[in-house]
Amino acid sequence: PNGLLTDALARPLRDLRISVTDRCNFRCVYCMPKDVFDKNYAFLPQSALLSFEEITRVARVFVAHGVEKIRLTGGEPLLRKHIERLIGMLREIRTPDGRELDLTLTTNGSLLAKKARALKDAGLNRVTVSLDSLNDAIFKRMNDVDFPVDDVLHGIEAAQAAGLGPVKVNMVVKGGVNDGEILPMARRFKDTPTILRFIEYMDVGDSNGWKMDEVIPSAEVVRRIDAELPLEEIEPNYTGETAERWRYRDGGGEIGVISSVTQAFCSDCSRARLSTEGKLYTCLFATGGHDLRALLRTGRSDAEIASVVAGIWRDRGDRYSELRAAGVPDPSRTAGKKVEMSYIGG
Ligand code: GTP
Ligand code: 5AD
Ligand code: SF4
Ligand code: SF4
Repeated sequence: PNGLLTDALARPLRDLRISVTDRCNFRCVYCMPKDVFDKNYAFLPQSALLSFEEITRVARVFVAHGVEKIRLTGGEPLLRKHIERLIGMLREIRTPDGRELDLTLTTNGSLLAKKARALKDAGLNRVTVSLDSLNDAIFKRMNDVDFPVDDVLHGIEAAQAAGLGPVKVNMVVKGGVNDGEILPMARRFKDTPTILRFIEYMDVGDSNGWKMDEVIPSAEVVRRIDAELPLEEIEPNYTGETAERWRYRDGGGEIGVISSVTQAFCSDCSRARLSTEGKLYTCLFATGGHDLRALLRTGRSDAEIASVVAGIWRDRGDRYSELRAAGVPDPSRTAGKKVEMSYIGG
């Protein structure tokens, strides 16, 4: 393997997202609505999950193919027992030219105050925290389990204090539910090191009952903030960054907008996703994945697995968000259900 692996649309493989559990202690309305993810929902049994050794082995294969950044996701990744151990194992991996990986994690923040220090000590570089509102009532309506917002805010502070910053905060904006929180959130994180990013509500998975008229376009988010706190656009940090960056003209820091619906960013998408049970997905909106666990558990060599991964990536032509914008019908009408975000990771 070498770093030059590219897919059918000439996109390299740079970013691997690993879901370490399909469970979550929240029931966010846009992700795990309670009526679907109830006590009868069939979460994966323990035996189905990749072990830390298996995850690390797969990660090594991906790094040999050019991956430089690994993000742990879920469900809620901090619910996975001894996650620090996995972080320590991934930390040891080096790129072909000897560099360390960028190792990050996306969390709902509920356990962060307790775990930030241990995560940092294990070798995690940064965290991204999901937070949809500062108003306790609205926040509880969105997480749907009565989780108080103060605990998440403490988690963010703990992460920043532990050296896991700059912390990024992701806010999914759902029209009519929390769009009134755009300005309060902007004000709260302005003049702090925390980078707030607004995410357009997406039609991911098969459960959230997504409707286009509940999407607040990023252009509208920027317009609303700019009217009170003047903004100017700034350059991306790297090619293929999901967020478009804006900074406060008075030097109060930066925000980001992630516009998967109104401004698809598939053309530079270098992200692969590994599900909790070891299936490889080449798009967030995929209807099916490729079973790597079967290879791991039938004695295949690293070289064989590497060659399967390379083949999958070379064939990849996914560009779901671009097709949606072009009016192509949702693949779930013909190809089966789209995979859930809680299973595949953000
Ligand atoms: P950093 O720049 O390292 O912070 O990573 P990132 O920008 O990829 O951040 P993050 O993983 O937090 O992604 C933010 C959100 O963007 C995710 O939670 C998703 O909602 C959305 N997102 C990320 N990747 C994709 C993608 O490939 N396609 C689509 N449609 N949305 C994505
Ligand atoms: N639309 C946009 N973002 C979503 N996330 C989960 N579901 C959706 C959706 N339907 C985001 C969460 C979190 C990350 C894991 O994915 O807010 O930041
Ligand atoms: Fe859990 Fe994150 Fe999904 Fe909310 S968005 S239900 S916190 S996995
Ligand atoms: Fe990548 Fe699929 Fe998202 Fe497009 S829709 S950016 S191809 S994950």
